[in-house]
Amino acid sequence: MRWPERVGSRELTVVGEDGVPFTLGPIDIVFPILHGRFGEDGTVQGMLELVDLPYVGSGVLASSLGMDKHFTKTVLQAAGIAVAPWVRFTAHEWATAPEEVLASLGSLGSPAFVKPARAGSSVGVSKVSTPDAFHAAIELALAEDSTVLVETGLVGREVECAVLESLPGEAPRVSVAGEVVVTGRDFYDFEAKYLDAPGIELVCPADLRPEQLSEMQDLARRAFEALGCAGLARVDFFLTADGFVVNEVNTMPGFTPISMFPSCWLASGLSYPELITELIEVARARS
Ligand SMILES: Nc1ncnc2c1ncn2[C@@H]1O[C@H](COP(=O)(O)OP(=O)(O)O)[C@@H](O)[C@H]1O
Ligand SMILES: [Mg+2]
Repeated sequence: MRWPERVGSRELTVVGEDGVPFTLGPIDIVFPILHGRFGEDGTVQGMLELVDLPYVGSGVLASSLGMDKHFTKTVLQAAGIAVAPWVRFTAHEWATAPEEVLASLGSLGSPAFVKPARAGSSVGVSKVSTPDAFHAAIELALAEDSTVLVETGLVGREVECAVLESLPGEAPRVSVAGEVVVTGRDFYDFEAKYLDAPGIELVCPADLRPEQLSEMQDLARRAFEALGCAGLARVDFFLTADGFVVNEVNTMPGFTPISMFPSCWLASGLSYPELITELIEVARARS
């Protein structure tokens, strides 16, 4: 069997609000700054592969892995990177054997965090401190995805760093660290992220000792490579009494000029326009 030729053109046509298609002209490169399902989960990336358009950021597999907290943690753990202990179950298991599911959560301790496997923006995430609160938290998470994770609640600082792929043959670069300082809230929830609710401060650069920063940068690079990321990623950690634990890897992190990813690069000496240029050049070099 012969693999069909890819027949995409580099002209992108979109359908306007009035239903009439119009062309955006020939496209050199796509920067898919999209969040969530269909945006950063590998589907748009797969579509771009099919139409043969080069794009910034991770490909299909790393995008899907990064979107799914269970599979991210599985790959990171296999690479020897610490993650919070977790239990994963499906909507079907919860519907048919809720007592068994609840029994399996006992070893995680209290508080625990309940989350949808694939969501983001803290949507559907709850902190659970008493066993009778699991029910509502699991239902909330199941409203977002058919797979749920329950994790040991970690005590520590939330620190993150930004990874940038280098031109071929060079190791990815890692920025200085940023910190989400949680003061007046339970955790970094949706209201704090998007509704400007008080009790959270984003600090960059975070106050870390040089050896802590270099350990964190090394772990971020390893996480990036373990998931097979490309282009860029933000790697989020908890700095606990037992050291760094990776919480998640965002393959398309927030990208407004005040978001953590560009702020971490600015604090590392790379301006916003320079950062965008780098990302485009790296994607062009790859295509
Ligand atoms: N295991 C955990 N221990 C302590 N805090 C947690 C844990 N998991 C999540 N959180 C808190 O919940 C927030 C959102 O969870 P996260 O896993 O980052 O989901 P999202 O993909 O929606 O950002 C985190 O930024 C952190 O404040
Ligand atoms: Mg997060």
